[in-house]
Amino acid sequence: MAVALRALRPSFAAEVDGIDLSQPMDAGSVRTIWDAIDRYAVLVFRDQRLTDTQLRDFAAEFGPLEIGRGALQGGRRRLVLPQIGDISNLDEESRVRARDDRRRLDSLGNRLWHTDASYMPVPVVLGMLHAVVVPPASVLGGGETEFADMRAAYDALPEAMKAEIDGLVAEHDIFWSRGQIGFTEFPPGEREKYPPSPQRLVRLHPGSQRKTLYLSAHASHILGWPVGEGRLLLWDLTAHATQNQFVYSHHWRVGDVVIWDNRCTMHRGRPHDEMQPRDLRRATTLDSGSTLEQAA
Ligand code: OGA
Ligand code: MN
Repeated sequence: MAVALRALRPSFAAEVDGIDLSQPMDAGSVRTIWDAIDRYAVLVFRDQRLTDTQLRDFAAEFGPLEIGRGALQGGRRRLVLPQIGDISNLDEESRVRARDDRRRLDSLGNRLWHTDASYMPVPVVLGMLHAVVVPPASVLGGGETEFADMRAAYDALPEAMKAEIDGLVAEHDIFWSRGQIGFTEFPPGEREKYPPSPQRLVRLHPGSQRKTLYLSAHASHILGWPVGEGRLLLWDLTAHATQNQFVYSHHWRVGDVVIWDNRCTMHRGRPHDEMQPRDLRRATTLDSGSTLEQAA
């Protein structure tokens, strides 16, 4: 079957048909997917049923894989492969985590608009989430994931604002983002392991040559500016960039794979009935250098 793309928003997010992600990828398919990522930034594949090994092997076609904070914390894990992030509300025994479970409270940070791992000196590129168990609809929502287009958000800024922010560098810090939701219970040694990282506020996306805002809940302030002033600018830009016209909301079905480009999007998880299991698995590709080294 030929690969077919269907845009979900005019130039943001597309559904891709005709590729079975469980099979080894040929170079042509990898190229087709990269081209679609560069154009749409978010891709949706339906009806895939991948084992963690298949998800890891598929993702590895797109770059070296991240081993995330969760897998690095040590202790028993529900998932065996360190390259597969556990984006679920389940503990090591696959039981729904208690309301006050530390890991659950940490992962509530995903409900803030963010781009992944921007607190790392070399951040990540592609996120790939695979839905294994999806919670039912509830009054709180169904655990959707929303994505916002940072290229379109940049384009829509007034020219004077673009000129003002073009050369700025923000400091990104996991402790700042988690602190916003009152989460401070990091394991001993984590502060030292994850010092804040500087990142360009405006990036040039290499695949599309489009300029894009690089915002995240992890972004704390602007280097060289009074903290409050930078923080307020970041909040204003985030409010601008997450308006409805820039957002695609993904309603999960079991078997979905969603790929997004962390360099030019933000995303956030939405609430759901926390008594119900929600089990998503994530593979993530790493970038090769700091945003400060990249062309702007
Ligand atoms: C992530 C993330 C949000 C969600 O996996 O990086 O932020 O909806 N997930 O689970
Ligand atoms: Mn995330």
